[in-house]
Amino acid sequence: MKPFDIVIVGGGGAGLYAAMEAMKTNPALNIAVLSKVYPNRSHTSAAQGGANAALANKAKDDTVELHIFDTIKGSDYLADQDAVDILCSEAPKIIRELDNIGTPWSRLEDNTIAQRPFGGAGRPRCCYCADKTGHTILQTLYEQCLKKGVFFFNEYFALQLSLHDSRMKGLIAMNMKTGKIEAFPARTVLFATGGYAKMYWNRSSNAAGNTGDGQAIAYRAGIPLKDMEFVQFHPTGLRKSGLLVTEGARGEGGYLINALGERFMSRYAPEKMELGPRDLVSRSIETEILQGRGFDSPAGKYVHLDLTHLGADLIKSRLPQIREMSMYFEGVDPIDEPIPVRPTAHYSMGGIDTDNYGRTVMDGVYAAGECACVSVHGANRLGGNSLLDILVFGRIAGHTAAEEAGKFEPSPITADEIAATEARLRSYMQPSGHFERYGILREELGQTLGQNVGIYREASKIRKGVADLRELQERFTHVRVNDTSDVFNTNLMQVLELKNMLDLAETVAAGALAREESRGSHTRTDFPQRDDEKWHKHTIATIEGDRVKLGEKPVTMGRYELQERTY
Ligand code: FUM
Repeated sequence: MKPFDIVIVGGGGAGLYAAMEAMKTNPALNIAVLSKVYPNRSHTSAAQGGANAALANKAKDDTVELHIFDTIKGSDYLADQDAVDILCSEAPKIIRELDNIGTPWSRLEDNTIAQRPFGGAGRPRCCYCADKTGHTILQTLYEQCLKKGVFFFNEYFALQLSLHDSRMKGLIAMNMKTGKIEAFPARTVLFATGGYAKMYWNRSSNAAGNTGDGQAIAYRAGIPLKDMEFVQFHPTGLRKSGLLVTEGARGEGGYLINALGERFMSRYAPEKMELGPRDLVSRSIETEILQGRGFDSPAGKYVHLDLTHLGADLIKSRLPQIREMSMYFEGVDPIDEPIPVRPTAHYSMGGIDTDNYGRTVMDGVYAAGECACVSVHGANRLGGNSLLDILVFGRIAGHTAAEEAGKFEPSPITADEIAATEARLRSYMQPSGHFERYGILREELGQTLGQNVGIYREASKIRKGVADLRELQERFTHVRVNDTSDVFNTNLMQVLELKNMLDLAETVAAGALAREESRGSHTRTDFPQRDDEKWHKHTIATIEGDRVKLGEKPVTMGRYELQERTY
């Protein structure tokens, strides 16, 4: 295959924005997007609530500076302040650009883009398309990419970077329809593969495919990962499935109620109440449940999200998907009854370490969106800053890759490399003395993470998690793929995804054990205070042999000094 100038791995919002921007930067470039699913089914489509931007349509006194401050405070002061500056300053432009290319933003009466309150934000600045914001953005971007001539390789599973003496030569991937291993020689590769929160199998809002493939490929190629211990639990997942109930529901005025009928957030965030930041609201719900003030059911313990006082018109017009999901998955119509909810693993703050332009330490390799860690979210992301991140940094990374592609000479990916990859995959189908089942290991991975490296953490539990993960890695060497066919071999793909998650889970647990403080989403019951003296820094995870090696990196400060974080 002729070399590509840019191969983008991932067809969600970050990947598509990167492709669109790269084409705009240099229309002569040969750009490919590889995606495990059809792009308009990427996980971005599950982002319900919206994207923050200080447009000042709803609150006339909102400013970019307030958005910057809310984001830094929300991050528990771990975000890099220069990156946050870029995120928030670019936000109004990017929302308007999306408006211009056809995103159907909800509108206020004066026809300006509507904005709603979101957690941890001082003003209502979250721009939305009812409760289907990510879905509509994705359609808009996909249409633009098709129009501009981006090549799409849909249903391709990314396997590894092709390297020669640490120089990146392109990507090796499997065509899921045929099982064929294919080479994508490229001057640059840009990862935009989304997050890894699906490793928390039992309670996650993530799509099945959010298995951290890009991060795992980069990690095994020697590219550092940053702040992997920070996993965000969204306060309101549906009780049974863990699926997302948007923060927009609380933004529109929904209440959280315990089994005693109390609006319990008054105990934890008396000013912000239900619109406290996610780490705080999730911990509050878990505390209510742990202290016996939750509801009980065969499907688990939970609290209520009550929207009944909002009225049928508002629920039908602004939260139609939430109503549909509540009826379908929980059998309750939120117009008449409260929704049973509990925190759910939702977002990966950690990811591939990049600079503010999307560059990694490896020449020609870039990353953007949830798979990257720039870092704009630090220890806790604010709702509505995730769509914004994929748009702003997808665009920046696409632009950088387009500008820099010419610096890198393409080199061929050899037939031997392809044959070695084929042999590696085939080896999963050869009998081994001791047989381990994919499904059992997958279940155990979710269990140990949920129990030992979940919302509340402590050394003895995390150590148990670390030991369990080591044992799972050993057992993984005996996992065998029963299905030996080539066409859509989902058994093989699940096994490959499991390996990606195991590798990343070890970095999450290692970071969680090392970080002896509580900051943002990382709550150590044995170290309940934030410890700025020892831990105001990023953790860096690299691979050494088959083990995680932890390092550190300073946080870039700016005009905001460290402060106590209260709401
Ligand atoms: O609550 C939500 O709608 C999720 C938004 C986000 O993760 O930013």
